[in-house]
Amino acid sequence: MASELKKVPIPRKGVDYRGKVVLAPMVRSGELPSRLLALHYGADLVWGPETVDRSMIGTTRRYNEVTKTIEWTRKPSQGSKAPPDDVKDSIIYRVHPELEGSKHIFQIGTSNPELAVQAARVVAGDVKGIDVNAGCPKPFSTHDGMGAALLRTPDKLCAILEALVKNITPEYEIGISVKIRILETAAETEALVRRLVATGITALTVHCRTTPMRPRERAIRGQLRMIRDICHEAGVACLMNGDVESRDHAAGLVEEYGVDGAMIATCAEKNSSCFRAGADGGVAPWEQVVEKYVELAMDVHNKFGNTKYLLCQLVPGKSPMYKLLQPCKSYLAVCETLGATHLLERARAVDVAIGIDPESKAQLAADKSAAKAGQKAARKRQEQEQQRQTQQQQNQQQWKNNPSALAAGGNPAQDRANNKKPLSERGVQQRKRSQSPNNMPQQQEVTNGIHPAAAPALSREQFLDNLIS
Ligand SMILES: Cc1cc2nc3c(=O)[nH]c(=O)nc-3n(C[C@H](O)[C@H](O)[C@H](O)COP(=O)(O)O)c2cc1C
Repeated sequence: MASELKKVPIPRKGVDYRGKVVLAPMVRSGELPSRLLALHYGADLVWGPETVDRSMIGTTRRYNEVTKTIEWTRKPSQGSKAPPDDVKDSIIYRVHPELEGSKHIFQIGTSNPELAVQAARVVAGDVKGIDVNAGCPKPFSTHDGMGAALLRTPDKLCAILEALVKNITPEYEIGISVKIRILETAAETEALVRRLVATGITALTVHCRTTPMRPRERAIRGQLRMIRDICHEAGVACLMNGDVESRDHAAGLVEEYGVDGAMIATCAEKNSSCFRAGADGGVAPWEQVVEKYVELAMDVHNKFGNTKYLLCQLVPGKSPMYKLLQPCKSYLAVCETLGATHLLERARAVDVAIGIDPESKAQLAADKSAAKAGQKAARKRQEQEQQRQTQQQQNQQQWKNNPSALAAGGNPAQDRANNKKPLSERGVQQRKRSQSPNNMPQQQEVTNGIHPAAAPALSREQFLDNLIS
């Protein structure tokens, strides 16, 4: 009989990371509307972007009735000790309690146990867990001893985790976790992980790259089983991160490596519908994702600059829309350019609410040309959507005649998932690094005008296999 896996207790208000596919912490790309988008498409938990302890300490917490968000604000320092009274407060962090409160993990950037506890206390009542960033390789993080620098100072990292476990867990009844990178040798990683799992944490996420590795370099999974074993011996959940492309891909990897869950960053940044299982529709056309994103960004009055930044990630660079969006300086211009006519009134109101003047002369001229182009794009999209729907109806008819669909109670994707062998046993080739994971469907969509899930050349099974491999 297989022995029961040991599990450290999950605090009453905390969350168990097991069985979850989650959105990674991402500075800039992981702001509120991005997290809501990931949740909309089925992410199980969402990490906020790393926030440095000192920037949280001393903030004021308030509830924003308009956006229904909790905001932690402070006056910008502007280099002087006492900023003038009329300077507007900056929002340092925010959480949407209704839409993400039960799924939000706050990630802290710190190199000091006392400051870590002080900062965690500021948000701990409004989130489901506190995660410590021990993997960021950027100098702004490491020069202060934070992020990946902590991997080289395990005493300090363990002291931070122990202080959080000792103070935050009993007071707020939530768990503490850590996100690390692998070290150069398995022996080094092993020694570190053994110490980390003894601190009282409930979970550990491992980004399967070493600190010097560039994001474009393929993740290394050779140490993963060893890390998993150490976590499991201690009863700590183990999440894998690095080149996880979608929910279905995550399911295959979790099975193959025996880890407890997976975390997705870059692929979610490019198309957050990667959290949707193939059986539920899989990766959606970027146009749909973009429109949903803009709606969510407007709902929560997201800073326009951040919205535009994310749009540049969500819209494929090769699409004509990418260029068309560049001159947009307001939500109104974005919605016109996208041809989202049903959103125009809302966009106008949001622009006014956040202090953008869409009626300025320069803005009107830019809007006019963008609107023209947007209408053309919208017409084309409508045609494509019609083609897609027709194709989907034809495909559904095919599935009905498929014996494996009948065997699985009419759910062929589930059937395949249940019977799927690990990738290694199926001899599936690894995707080439140069081929961006989500670009596969996006690229095809741009060239064919039809989403590959509906493209006649690929069966649904081939499409899923492509996503996984
Ligand atoms: C734009 C961006 C911002 C990131 N910010 C953070 C961060 O705040 N904290 C963190 O631990 N990792 C951060 N990362 C790293 C990711 O969380 C993740 O570990 C890494 O991208 C590997 O996952 P992937 O292969 O799915 O992209 C960031 C990555 C990106 C692309």
